[in-house]
Amino acid sequence: MIQVNTKNCSAFVPKDYFSLREDALSQAQAWLQDATGEGNDFVGWVHLPRDYDREEFARIKAAAQKIQAQSAALVVIGIGGSYLGARGVIEALCSPNYNQKQKDTPNIYFAGNTLSTDALTEIAELIGEQDFSINVISKSGTTTEPAISFRFFRELCEKKYGKEGARERIYATTDAKRGVLKALSDAEGYETFVVPDSVGGRYSVLTAVGLLPIAVCGIDIDALMAGAANMMENCAQGGAQCPAWQYAAARSALYECGKKVEILACYEPSFRFMAEWWKQLYGESEGKDGKGLFPASVEFTADLHSMGQYIQQGERLMFETVVRYDQPRTTLTVPFDESNGDGLNFLAGKDMSFVNEQAMDGTLLAHVEGGVPNLIVRAARNDAQNMGELIYFFEYACGLSGYLLGVNPFNQPGVESYKKNMFALLGKPGYEDMRAALLEKLGK
Ligand code: PA5
Repeated sequence: MIQVNTKNCSAFVPKDYFSLREDALSQAQAWLQDATGEGNDFVGWVHLPRDYDREEFARIKAAAQKIQAQSAALVVIGIGGSYLGARGVIEALCSPNYNQKQKDTPNIYFAGNTLSTDALTEIAELIGEQDFSINVISKSGTTTEPAISFRFFRELCEKKYGKEGARERIYATTDAKRGVLKALSDAEGYETFVVPDSVGGRYSVLTAVGLLPIAVCGIDIDALMAGAANMMENCAQGGAQCPAWQYAAARSALYECGKKVEILACYEPSFRFMAEWWKQLYGESEGKDGKGLFPASVEFTADLHSMGQYIQQGERLMFETVVRYDQPRTTLTVPFDESNGDGLNFLAGKDMSFVNEQAMDGTLLAHVEGGVPNLIVRAARNDAQNMGELIYFFEYACGLSGYLLGVNPFNQPGVESYKKNMFALLGKPGYEDMRAALLEKLGK
């Protein structure tokens, strides 16, 4: 089970910070469990590991097998909550170098998360002559980035396989009933999977949104859901022993004591996109009404040689949350070198994980000493079961945190502002007046 160690933040917060928040946590707990708080239309993820649609889950597995049999590449088209979770889990459990590895499963190319021409062109080049399938993921079906990418790859797919053939290779994950992507998929006969109405994008990794691409890579999605279910049961109990309560209380107390930035750190480079997923989860859930911790991330030890300087001695505005794994997946000992030119023979024969652990502890002590409180989130190992626990832990703590902060953790009204400007500037019908006003502001 995930454990949270708050010892290294106690010098920075009042002694009774947890008990001061117990009533608010109980209230937040009830709002999440009974779906009675603000944003209650979007708490379908709370009981998802227990209530998920078994029939659809079986179809996800079957579709993953079909994609594995038919294709050497899968293009996963989506952005934000329709992208980051799958990429985070795949990179963490398979590797950021997954596509370069020898394997029986298809390469995965993530598209639709940018408007860069170069990025889109490169994916098409990388796919080259390989057989490919497409999983287009958009809850709304109207998000510009994935919609444009889908046009592009759908055309490629239809040119290569014909309309009939493309139908066997395109999978859409979208709303159950509404939206242009659902309508198009029904008209074209694509197999569809559902983003439940009650699950917002950033809480959707354990739905078909994340599960289909994750299963295509050969990751055990039963274990992922079992891990999430374990954590769900733990969170449903709540209380002082619940890691999600501990984390939510500590970060709330640190925020109120002036720490405005939370840096998520991990000493496994493969965790990088899980941190991106976490940033969206917390940034979109808390950053509103002029409030909220700013979520940032670093990759240690690499960033100790860059951002480490600022963390140690810059503005004292942040705390760190470090994800640690008890056991590495592989072992590797430091070689003995006769000449000992680098003076490192004192480490010869030691496991790399021992060296990494000393770096973690040394950094922790230095940063705490430098005024950066440190929370540790500990998982037994980096596998599907623990990943399921970790995902649910962060989601639940995020829901609690938003309510403690006094915001609706399940909306994202701010995301619309740039979209409206972009549509107006692109000349979308209906935005004519806005376009004129924006062009004047831009001096164009
Ligand atoms: O969390 C969110 O709601 C957003 O980040 C969305 O996931 C993102 O904008 C993609 O939306 P959609 O799935 O509707 O294309």
